[in-house]
Amino acid sequence: MIKPKVLITKTIPKEVENYIAQHCDYKIRSFDGKIDKELLFNELQDTEGLLTSGTKINEELLSHAPKLKVVSNISVGYNNFDLGCMKARKVMGTNTPGVLDDTVADLVFALVLSAARRISELDAYVKKGKWRESDNENLFGVDVHHSTLGIIGMGRIGETIAKRARLGFDMEVLYYNRSMKPKIEKELGVEYSSLEDLLKKSDYIVVMTPLTKETEHIIDYKEFDLMKKSAIVINASRGKTINEEALIDALKNKRILAAGLDVYSVEPVNLDNPLLKMPNVVTIPHIGSATSKTRFDMSMLAAKNLIIALSGHTPPNLVPELK
Ligand code: DGY
Repeated sequence: MIKPKVLITKTIPKEVENYIAQHCDYKIRSFDGKIDKELLFNELQDTEGLLTSGTKINEELLSHAPKLKVVSNISVGYNNFDLGCMKARKVMGTNTPGVLDDTVADLVFALVLSAARRISELDAYVKKGKWRESDNENLFGVDVHHSTLGIIGMGRIGETIAKRARLGFDMEVLYYNRSMKPKIEKELGVEYSSLEDLLKKSDYIVVMTPLTKETEHIIDYKEFDLMKKSAIVINASRGKTINEEALIDALKNKRILAAGLDVYSVEPVNLDNPLLKMPNVVTIPHIGSATSKTRFDMSMLAAKNLIIALSGHTPPNLVPELK
């Protein structure tokens, strides 16, 4: 039997590779985060299935991939898909929802706690032998428990964050979402809010919405102006949900207290980005889902989506816009 041709552009666990090998004729080309377009387009000529993460699937790429049937993302986000072009060319697109919710929610709390309790700043004091200087009220943090958390984007991950906030930290939780979630409100005691009220009332603002045309710069200058001066902003969604210039401006002018960032408008973040020089900004390199188990589960789920699609069936995680 002729196996379908698959191109893999991300390092995947051996076990997942072995599983793909049973069903597909595959090549792994690691582009180390930098895509060499010529090489990629060349490889794509006879590719039927692409297993990737973050590669821009647009008209230019699709025009070099005449046999492509499915792009399987090893991520829950799929803002790398140009959905219109994929639909027009009948290319399926899948993602990996569900398996990363707890891991990302944990990471969001790591950012909340690090920014609030100034963990990375104080870590540097200890390591530089400045223990005594750190016992200084200018370096005191702020409480997380019994404060108000505003979640923008109440999908699965938002819900998992809300659970931690309510049950673990006795926080009040407000959420803003396209649709209201009465079941979650009842189960967790969280409250739907307008975006404006959420921004005015929250001590911690977590952006967790997917990046779409509607959510790009959902937090901009006007939104920062509505926030408390003591607000801490956390972004673990996509960098462009926040206008980064406006964030820098708000931090510089002390219109908010601090930020915790896993994502940036350009990734890898430029070394001259002012955010990297600010002690009240905790920066990590887009690692929301990066635990060994979760990355394994995401790779395996993405491989299953790919193989089901290539066998002529509708994959379970076909993204809703392409159904
Ligand atoms: C996702 O799955 O979208 C996370 O951001 C990790 O890439």
